[in-house]
Amino acid sequence: MRWENLLLLTPYHIMKPYSPELQNGSSRTSLQNTPRIVLLLTATLFLLTIIPLYLFPLLATSFAWRNLSSPPSSPSPSLSSSSSSPSSSSRDMSRDAMAGVTMAKSSCDIFRGEWVPNPNAPYYTNETCWAIHEHQNCMKFGRPDTEFLKWRWKPNDCDLPIFNPAQFLELVRGKSLAFVGDSVGRNQMQSLICLLLRVTYAVDASVTEDEKFRRYHFPTHNFTVASFWSPFLVRAHEADPNGPTLTGLFNLHLDQVDTNWTTQMTPFDYVIVSAGHWFFRPTMFFEADQLVGCHYCLHPNVTDLTMYYSYRRAFRAALRAFNDLPGFRGTVFLRTFAPSHFENGEWNKGGNCVRQRPFRSNETRMDGYNLEMYMAQLEEYRAAEGEGKEKGVRFRLLDTTEAMLLRPDGHPGRFGHRPDENVTLYNDCVHWCLPGPIDNWNDFLLHMLKNEGGRSAAGRRSRNDRKSTIK
Ligand SMILES: *[C@@H]1O[C@H](CO)[C@@H](O)[C@H](O)[C@H]1NC(C)=O
Ligand SMILES: *[C@@H]1O[C@H](CO)[C@@H](O)[C@H](O)[C@H]1NC(C)=O
Ligand SMILES: *[C@@H]1O[C@H](CO)[C@@H](O)[C@H](O)[C@H]1NC(C)=O
Ligand SMILES: *[C@@H]1O[C@H](CO)[C@@H](O)[C@H](O)[C@H]1NC(C)=O
Ligand SMILES: *[C@@H]1O[C@H](CO)[C@@H](O)[C@H](O)[C@H]1NC(C)=O
Ligand SMILES: *[C@@H]1O[C@H](CO)[C@@H](O)[C@H](O)[C@H]1NC(C)=O
Repeated sequence: MRWENLLLLTPYHIMKPYSPELQNGSSRTSLQNTPRIVLLLTATLFLLTIIPLYLFPLLATSFAWRNLSSPPSSPSPSLSSSSSSPSSSSRDMSRDAMAGVTMAKSSCDIFRGEWVPNPNAPYYTNETCWAIHEHQNCMKFGRPDTEFLKWRWKPNDCDLPIFNPAQFLELVRGKSLAFVGDSVGRNQMQSLICLLLRVTYAVDASVTEDEKFRRYHFPTHNFTVASFWSPFLVRAHEADPNGPTLTGLFNLHLDQVDTNWTTQMTPFDYVIVSAGHWFFRPTMFFEADQLVGCHYCLHPNVTDLTMYYSYRRAFRAALRAFNDLPGFRGTVFLRTFAPSHFENGEWNKGGNCVRQRPFRSNETRMDGYNLEMYMAQLEEYRAAEGEGKEKGVRFRLLDTTEAMLLRPDGHPGRFGHRPDENVTLYNDCVHWCLPGPIDNWNDFLLHMLKNEGGRSAAGRRSRNDRKSTIK
């Protein structure tokens, strides 16, 4: 495993390993200290208003798991700065409404359900699939339990078939699929490749050596998948590798999409857009090239607008970019926020994810930052979808958040690397083991492609249109 991959592709700057060869600049040396300020402590967003800052590093309690039995948290005053943020009382309603919107065509909402035992899983192993990223190869690093592999998602009102690779390949014959986002998006792409390799083979067709932009071709079906690295979706620049918390400070241009991916989208039939945990980092927000605020920059003269602001704006810019993309006739899937599951401490305070079974849906609930991130996505999705109807761009919601909220057992934890390897995020409760519950995202995807009408005339028509409009 090249450490560079980890460096570039993991969502946490703080995952930088301690290996000396990477400390290749004086600015990096401070990273040898364990960052003392907890970035992922979302509770901070709520607590900052009442607890003096100097107490911040001491807030070592687990945050996500208080959610298990507590009532929904009330929004902090800082959240109301986002004018379009719904009040907490209206959230459940609007969420139900959104669920209704996404399922308008079908009486069954495939995204609400339970994990049920599936003795037949898994459908591939680390020996049959070469595409598994080193840090998600949990078996290789000795994960002792295997029960986490043996579940399938059962929607409340229907069945969701297990991924059928032959069927999928038939539907995407001659087509192309792009993943735009961070390492969790790449995690899904690798799951998809592994599932397809059961019945076919793939070749690396990357057009660059850059690990951030990979392309794989399935010659038997002339199908292409590609990944585009863009963890913030918008134009981003690491302004200070240390930043206020020693974990980097990024400048985000929230109204300018990252052209690394937008310039490449036109030929794609399907695009899966996602983003998530990078927005937890200290970030400065620019709009029209003016500084408008920040998230956790700790600067007395800059308003902290919270990461919900940047997350919302980034999705707004990204989704609208498709509506404004000349010649783009594809279908855009917004894959919703994937929760992490640190328990008994944050990522740098011994937090881990050691559960070996999923939750039942009545054992947890989406609230706190998971709900805020999710709602921001839904609202921007709805806006873009409306616009897309006029412009001929189809938007679909790959609504994975709730299913994944129930899978605290699906992360690598300490089995994402050799035990003696010196990594900063020792317990990875963010990414997902392969094979593992993230394979389910491709069950959803196949189901949605079938609902698109599969190899309908519409698909071919769009390709013909493209030929005439582009080449
Ligand atoms: C796959 O996992 C096994 C342990 O289950 C390990 O011995 C083997 O080296 C791994 N192989 C690869 C290619 O990762
Ligand atoms: C393969 O698919 C691409 C579009 O993804 C298309 O341009 C090309 O003509 C196809 N090639 C063959 C041999 O069908
Ligand atoms: C685009 O990709 C290049 C090459 O990986 C990278 O150096 C650059 O920072 C990226 N641009 C943005 C806006 O992220
Ligand atoms: C913040 O703004 C005030 C008033 O404009 C100025 O006096 C002060 O130097 C600024 N502080 C910083 C850290 O820029
Ligand atoms: C959740 O539902 C299951 C099945 O209906 C039930 O057995 C269990 O007691 C419930 N758990 C809680 C915490 O309500
Ligand atoms: C891990 O990194 C820390 C901090 O740089 C260092 O003190 C320690 O010796 C390293 N351990 C190993 C096994 O390399």
